[in-house]
Amino acid sequence: MTQHTIAVLPGDGIGREVMPEALKVLDRVGQIFDIGFRFSHLDWSCETWLATGSMMPPDGMDRLSQHDAILLGAVGYPTVPDHISLWGMLIPIRREFDQYVNLRPVRLLPGIPCPLAGRAPGDIDFWIVRENTEGEYSQIGGRFAEGSEAEGVAQTAIFTRRGTDRIMRYAFDLATRLGRPHVSSATKSNGLFHSMPYWDERFEKMAAEYPDIRTDSHHIDILAARFVMHPDRFDVVVGSNLFGDILSDLGPGVTGTIAVAPSANINPEKRFPSMFEPVHGSAPDIAGRAIANPIGQVWAASMMLDHLGEGEAAALVLRAIEHMTADPSALVRTADIGGHASTSACGDAIVAALDRIA
Ligand code: NAI
Ligand code: MG
Repeated sequence: MTQHTIAVLPGDGIGREVMPEALKVLDRVGQIFDIGFRFSHLDWSCETWLATGSMMPPDGMDRLSQHDAILLGAVGYPTVPDHISLWGMLIPIRREFDQYVNLRPVRLLPGIPCPLAGRAPGDIDFWIVRENTEGEYSQIGGRFAEGSEAEGVAQTAIFTRRGTDRIMRYAFDLATRLGRPHVSSATKSNGLFHSMPYWDERFEKMAAEYPDIRTDSHHIDILAARFVMHPDRFDVVVGSNLFGDILSDLGPGVTGTIAVAPSANINPEKRFPSMFEPVHGSAPDIAGRAIANPIGQVWAASMMLDHLGEGEAAALVLRAIEHMTADPSALVRTADIGGHASTSACGDAIVAALDRIA
């Protein structure tokens, strides 16, 4: 039996409600495929911060580094400023563990109403690969001539060859692995004078190494429009930190609801653990009512399985999710997708679907 050690960080709000459902699904799929999980339950959250003044203990990163992967719920608490939760935990994990790929599937699930007219499951099914460590989100820059008429700021974007090449290589390798030999690049070389022409240059160089993969480049503005008008045209889309950030919310947006979407922060070389989480946050407006949709968290667990080399188990979990969402019964659907099921009833329905199709 293979054993995986998983750091489980439910976090705040609905993170604590959806996480048990993902663990339920992992336990069941583990029994089916003879995969063992050792879960470390870590109660690090904004509530920890309120009690102790820090989001995680001083040896937090060390402890996380002893795991094969991290499964995160969501962090954020109404009385705690968002930069505390972000810079106190999420950003250190993403950066210190060199999780330079943010990977998000964009897929219309059966039974989830699509905001785009005339689209059915199968029409929207692609992947966004976002650079997660450099680019526009840098701390380089500053404020000058403060308080005077000449006051201004400079914010510098950083694109290294190493950083640019490795995210593009990941995108091309992903397209190869998925058997979807088509990579689209998000650019803006008609506006940004240095960074995006460089991005384009590296994209062309990388494309030359993968002659079997079709490529195209889109300026970010028209690309956003194409996500809405022609989402069926995409397979793998690669973008810088800022462009990828925007696209990776637009993507799940066109598939109906962010509550079902997952996100992976990956260190592809596996030198450090990667982190898997739903796209949504801690949803304080519905927290504590047991009505949160657990699908994003369960799908994140499926992405984690794939990363751990358990591809078959990962695929089965995704199929079970699709069986569940295709079920019109209000008894298995949470309120956000038109039912009145509790979080755990929805989780149970996914487990039942697993058993039916395994
Ligand atoms: P949010 O994603 O928590 O909620 C947005 C809306 O979607 C709310 O109306 C919420 O009820 C609904 N929603 C979200 N997930 C749902 C689910 N699973 N089932 C049913 N409905 C769901 O975003 P918001 O309100 O902007 O942020 C709330 C807190 O979460 C903030 O503190 C924010 O910083 C944090 N946050 C944390 C993230 C993370 O941990 N990576 C990501 C996004 C936000
Ligand atoms: Mg975002």
